Amino acid sequence: MRDYEFYYTQDGSIGLYSYTYDDVYHSKYGALTEAWEKFILPSGIDKLLNTKENINILDLCYGVGYNTKALMSYVINQDEKFLKQKNFFKNILKNLKKEIKSNNIYNESIDSDKRIDFRKDLSLSIDSENEKTISVINIDCLELNDKLVKLSPFLKTVFTPQEIYEKIVPKIFDCFDTYWIIRKKLSKFTLKIALRNRRKITEFLDLKYKNDYDLLNSNYKIHKYVNFIIINALLNKYKDNYINKELKIKLTDRTNRRFFDRSKIKYAKFKQNFRYNLLYKFNLFAFLHNIYYSYLSIRDKNIKFEDAQSLFKLNFLVNDARKSILTINRQYDIIFLDAFTCSKAPELWSVEFIAELYKRLSPRGVLITYSNSALVRNTLLENNFYLGKILDAKTGKPIGTIAAKEKTVIEHPLSNYEIGLCNTRAGITYHDPGLSLDRETILKRREYEFKTSDLMTSTQYMRSRMNKNEENDAEEW
Ligand SMILES: C[S@@+](CC[C@H](N)C(=O)[O-])C[C@H]1O[C@@H](n2cnc3c(N)ncnc32)[C@H](O)[C@@H]1O
Repeated sequence: MRDYEFYYTQDGSIGLYSYTYDDVYHSKYGALTEAWEKFILPSGIDKLLNTKENINILDLCYGVGYNTKALMSYVINQDEKFLKQKNFFKNILKNLKKEIKSNNIYNESIDSDKRIDFRKDLSLSIDSENEKTISVINIDCLELNDKLVKLSPFLKTVFTPQEIYEKIVPKIFDCFDTYWIIRKKLSKFTLKIALRNRRKITEFLDLKYKNDYDLLNSNYKIHKYVNFIIINALLNKYKDNYINKELKIKLTDRTNRRFFDRSKIKYAKFKQNFRYNLLYKFNLFAFLHNIYYSYLSIRDKNIKFEDAQSLFKLNFLVNDARKSILTINRQYDIIFLDAFTCSKAPELWSVEFIAELYKRLSPRGVLITYSNSALVRNTLLENNFYLGKILDAKTGKPIGTIAAKEKTVIEHPLSNYEIGLCNTRAGITYHDPGLSLDRETILKRREYEFKTSDLMTSTQYMRSRMNKNEENDAEEW
């Protein structure tokens, strides 16, 4: 049986559906938009960036990495103005010559000390020119499914519908123009009909594309370097076993291959083989030259890939997050909690698992989740978090929950009404002492507690508040 299915979401990015969990990985409205609006923009990364030397991020449930990719894109875009404008290609060649000398191609993406040495050698220090701290972003990516992690940098970064509209529609009109000119020359009579039709077609296209997609934000893009940086980090982790037989089958699978970017697959294969195969070493420069001119040089060819790459340290922990978390001894500034919904993956919403996250959150750090459920919020409350709402910038409606150890970090605290909802039966939490119970046991235990509870149901609570005419109580907690 297939594990998952790819599909295009409304913003043009690729989403996934999991057969095992019978759940979607991403919102149908836009996998990338969701990452930006629910995770990156509310995270406060803008305030930390370039004020703190090391920023620690935990991407819990990396999946195919939209949250990590959006965050990296945000950071690169913000830092571009600080990075020295030098020719990317010259630098990558110089670095590669050094790599060939040291014969250790994998070091490039992880060993920051070595990279600093590179920079010094090449007189490319970015920090010396601008007396500004350039933050290094440490991202720990936790994920159970290694196939998804390996596939993640190969997913196509497609145009947004708005871009498609802008690119394709003028071409269509051009064709029409040529067509009408020819027709005009052919017959006066045809021209009369043609003009009428032409207006209609224009109107039709305008309505079809513009009205639907005007609201989408076309700034939500994955920076062109991001997937290359991820490939290098994954090569560093998996070494010669990155592009293996199993992955090749996935990448060439007939139904899925249209979702993958061939150039990135080639790049990864090439770098993996380069280590052993002399032929690849001969072709490397020509190959990178092509990659550079085809993909990396389109508009801002002066921004250095090496400098962008050196902003990040990516660490992939591919295992049950309950096990991985116990091996981590780090304080995070930002935690993205993007697990499947509670009933599908209760092990990642238990009081005990969230307690482990609390321990690893820095005093002014934030934990962010897309969930607004009473259960999730109550689990966070039981762990002494202060809670707030993430509000949609356009509609003002809650699209997620933000949790912090300090009250002042929270911008839009929960109202008394929302806190009250957490204390109903809907807010009964999952428990997983020892972080080792299986999914069914965790669900059954909660179900038993739910049935035997004296608490009000959420419906009773809402009715009681309506009677008191307090359902719109906006008093802050
Ligand atoms: C909603 S998806 C995450 C989507 C992801 N943020 C992205 O951008 O693609 C949930 C992810 O949780 C992973 N997962 C499920 N159970 C897990 C566990 N116990 N530990 C770690 N990851 C788990 C699934 O494999 C899936 O990729």
